[in-house]
Amino acid sequence: MKITICIGSSCHIKGSKQVVEQLQDLIRENNLGDKVELGGVFCMGKCQQGVCVTVDDAFYSLSPENVKDFFDTSVLPQVK
Ligand code: FES
Repeated sequence: MKITICIGSSCHIKGSKQVVEQLQDLIRENNLGDKVELGGVFCMGKCQQGVCVTVDDAFYSLSPENVKDFFDTSVLPQVK
């Protein structure tokens, strides 16, 4: 699975750095380092919807507040 996080300026202002850090922690805590690949991209053209994240081809709009929910519902079930 590849998770791509937008780190363009608009998403950065909305907290993409925290989103990346939380995802890194969650991946480490769940020992998913060999199953989940994190990547960054500079703008997905959906700045209004940031923080923009894609999982493979599915699009998600995250914020630092809902990363954990996203991880539990959209990442974990797909890699277990
Ligand atoms: S800065 Fe993230 S979609 Fe444009």
